[in-house]
Amino acid sequence: MNPHKVRGKVNPKTAAGRLRRAASLRPKLAIVLGSGFHAAAKQATLEATVPYTKLPGFLAPSVPGHVGHALIGYLGGTEIIILQGRAHYYEGHSMAAITLPIRVLAEYGIKSLLLTNAAGGINRKYQPGDFMAFKDHLNFMGDNPLRGRVQPGLERFVDLTQTYAPSLSKALQSAARKTKTKLHTGVYCAVGGPNYETPAEVRAYGKLGADAVGMSTVPEAIVARQCGLRVAALSCITNAAAGLTGDTLTHKAVLSTGTTASQSAAKLLAEFARRYE
Ligand code: HPA
Repeated sequence: MNPHKVRGKVNPKTAAGRLRRAASLRPKLAIVLGSGFHAAAKQATLEATVPYTKLPGFLAPSVPGHVGHALIGYLGGTEIIILQGRAHYYEGHSMAAITLPIRVLAEYGIKSLLLTNAAGGINRKYQPGDFMAFKDHLNFMGDNPLRGRVQPGLERFVDLTQTYAPSLSKALQSAARKTKTKLHTGVYCAVGGPNYETPAEVRAYGKLGADAVGMSTVPEAIVARQCGLRVAALSCITNAAAGLTGDTLTHKAVLSTGTTASQSAAKLLAEFARRYE
């Protein structure tokens, strides 16, 4: 049997081995950088940069700003691996494909994972440039990364009573206080995209308890919980969700707010990493 494949699928052990060979560090903390968070990579002291093209099963992200490198080094003095960008479901990949990097991180020895993204604010108290730590999520992506055959030794019916670890959320809150960053705690609604929502959808998601809406992160969080990782997730609120203001939504405007907020995002992540135990 080909050791780099599991039942025809890419074996996460192969990429994990490549990461181990790239640097002698053995980080326990990983951060996935989404839109609005890419400046954080510049705060890290690096021991190795591994392009996703060298990691079997990793997809090259096609969204601007999503660089497609794994960075191994230190952030805020803490050993870390940073995934600089992700592939999205709306790019046409399967749920299994977009979540493979999380299985690789688990295989590599990661214990805690911070997922980051850009999101539209549904809660009217949220302003563009604010941040939101996930308290919980709604999965409206219409698909699930655990669908299909389950890997031996893993649970199929994963418990999501507490997807996001309170200890990591607390670390985010204290990092936000220290860096004077506006951080809310709320419920993220994941949709498949790539169109932005209609105002009716935004009203519906709000009634169902969502505070923010976006097109990523939840599949990764679900797989991370299946792999036993502690998970936190953080949105940069780049815009008011559709219909809440008179404005229409453009990807350019979303990216531009993300860029403006990315300096505070970088400070917040470095402080979070410093507090990591
Ligand atoms: N909706 C969905 N995804 C997003 C948004 C939004 O308003 N803003 C940034 N990502």
